[in-house]
Amino acid sequence: MVLSFSGARVLVTGGLGFIGSALGRRLTDLGADVLLVDSLIPEYGGNLFNIAGYENRLKVNIADVRDEFSMDHLVQGRDFLFNLAGQNSHLDSMRDPYTDLDINCRAQLSILEACRKNNPGIKIVFTSTRQLYGKPDYLPVDERHLLHPTDVNGINKMAGEWYHILYNHVYGIRAVSLRLTNTYGPRMRVKDARQTFLGIWIRRVIEGLPFDIFGDGMQVRDFNYVDDVVDAILMCASTDEVNGQVYNLGSDETINFNDLAALLVSVNGSGEYRLVPFPSERKPIDIGDYYADYRRIRGKLGWIPQVNLRDGLAHTLDYYHQYHDHYW
Ligand SMILES: NC(=O)c1ccc[n+]([C@@H]2O[C@H](COP(=O)([O-])OP(=O)(O)OC[C@H]3O[C@@H](n4cnc5c(N)ncnc54)[C@H](O)[C@@H]3O)[C@@H](O)[C@H]2O)c1
Repeated sequence: MVLSFSGARVLVTGGLGFIGSALGRRLTDLGADVLLVDSLIPEYGGNLFNIAGYENRLKVNIADVRDEFSMDHLVQGRDFLFNLAGQNSHLDSMRDPYTDLDINCRAQLSILEACRKNNPGIKIVFTSTRQLYGKPDYLPVDERHLLHPTDVNGINKMAGEWYHILYNHVYGIRAVSLRLTNTYGPRMRVKDARQTFLGIWIRRVIEGLPFDIFGDGMQVRDFNYVDDVVDAILMCASTDEVNGQVYNLGSDETINFNDLAALLVSVNGSGEYRLVPFPSERKPIDIGDYYADYRRIRGKLGWIPQVNLRDGLAHTLDYYHQYHDHYW
């Protein structure tokens, strides 16, 4: 598929975060006129260093997607909206459900209202999550699997996703949603376990400290390298054939936590880990084994992940060995 974004005016919410910044940098390289919007809320994944080297090639607006007046203005004149801003901690969504509600649900509706009022011709790609499915009834999980999230975050992301699909169907505001699985790579938030266990594992192996696996380590997951996810997002933006649809992303390279830990240590050349009991507040919201059936997007757009776990982890570790000062 030819990806042509030269001269395209794009807006990326969450653009200073992990995936948003990768997308912003890629679109800049493709010749797009890129505007990143991010609130830089402390403890979230936004980091100005994520766009190091690109500061003069793209624009950044520090704004909060909950601010309707800002969004009314920012969507104007844009051809594409890549809507990635989100509160991404499952645990935080349980401790502070209203903030998650405001960002992942209410703000999504107001972003769509901003488009309806000010730029109904815009094309939107929304990043949803596998968390919508909750604890799988069967594996691999396809898009027909029931949605029964195990946490507040999954419920609010579900609403956020369906507002996009609704606005596509009712108002013709072209939108597609991608349900991402665990995504990793350089510039992911690794400071602590707030967003993902893999982040803190990476930090600790680099620091030469042991890291913890919760439970028996037999939980199976799939992982996508960030560049593969950016490919899928751009492919969805490039065709109107996917409008109004939801697609899983995933990988055929499924792995349990014990094997993933061993792989990380092997790629790093050193490291230690230990099994610890599941923390009591995490256990009820854990989804157990998960991996996606991504045949739908593969069949429609030919998307297949290109980067295997070993190579992806090697790129990620190289990055943090070099730049960890900017991330913890
Ligand atoms: N990384 C993953 O494994 C994964 C898995 C499933 C879904 N996703 C989805 O992908 C998207 C991007 O995630 P990421 O991994 O890059 O996370 P991230 O935390 O690195 O990026 C999210 C960005 O959104 C910004 N943001 C949060 N609230 C905001 C607000 N109110 N206004 C403006 N900006 C705000 C943050 O500052 C941050 O820069 C999210 O929508 C997330 O739900 C990610």
